[in-house]
Amino acid sequence: MVFLLTLHLMLLNGLKILINGKNINMHSSIDSYGVMGYPVSHSYSPEIHNLFALQTQQKIEYSRLQVSPDELESKIIEFKGKGGKGLNITLPHKTEVFKLADQITERASIAGAVNTLSFRNDEIFADNTDGIGLIRDLSINLKIPLKNKNILILGAGGATRGIISLILEMKPKSLLIANRTIDKAEMLANQVSHLGQVSTCPLNAIPAFKNYDLIINATSAGIRGEDSIYPTDVISNKTYCYDLSYGLKPTPFYEWAVNSGAHQSFMGWGMLVEQAAESFNIWRGIRPNTAPVLKKLITNA
Ligand code: ATR
Repeated sequence: MVFLLTLHLMLLNGLKILINGKNINMHSSIDSYGVMGYPVSHSYSPEIHNLFALQTQQKIEYSRLQVSPDELESKIIEFKGKGGKGLNITLPHKTEVFKLADQITERASIAGAVNTLSFRNDEIFADNTDGIGLIRDLSINLKIPLKNKNILILGAGGATRGIISLILEMKPKSLLIANRTIDKAEMLANQVSHLGQVSTCPLNAIPAFKNYDLIINATSAGIRGEDSIYPTDVISNKTYCYDLSYGLKPTPFYEWAVNSGAHQSFMGWGMLVEQAAESFNIWRGIRPNTAPVLKKLITNA
């Protein structure tokens, strides 16, 4: 009885005790994480991170946190103050959180957006895992090489900024960015010129070229339900097509690629799970196996 009472107190106080010669950590607290967005109800992050936690036997809790732009700063500080360990940041807050960060990775800085915050030693670390998520999906899951390949990206907004430095690191043979507003494509190409050569052209004037190995859609036209111009004479039966957007139904870009005879066409579900795995790895120091999580996510979606 006395032992039980002592054990109970130790559990409450989070102490280390010896049971059968083993040092057992009795910290009963669970590390807290979450995703902040506005709106955030559509986010798959809670489901993905809970599956990662189950698989890797990490005791965490992960919440979906709807936070409006005017309360963003105070909610992040509050979350951190309560001992929260990390946050995913989604639209429309990905740029706004920069000002709170003590340290920012180069890839987040080039992306001009943050999707992962970590709270360590009272400091805020900001990172962006979107680009590495895409690269891991392409090269590890889908076995699509980028080195020495001809790559075309449609779009020059936030999604392109998030992936461009990581793509250039893979040393493609050529990289062309086509955008409706040519100035935006040119500005981005200049910004990353120290990482590699990038050509640009208007979306409606992409030169006919049958040797693209990979075409990536990074426009938001599909998400917004708007029409977009898709180029002609750029797809061969060797071309892979990848839409950063994903949906329950095939996206317009995905369908255009299939109908144009692409070798294979993909939506961004794999990137979604891989960018989450990178965040999980940053927070927990353990890389989950993404394949079963991706399968479950698509089945449940
Ligand atoms: P951001 O990601 O920077 O917030 P966005 O408005 O979501 O910007 O647009 C992302 C990308 O999709 C941009 O390259 C945008 O082209 P513009 O720079 O010309 O605006 C592109 N985009 C959005 N809607 C489009 C459409 N209907 N057709 C073609 N491109 C489109």
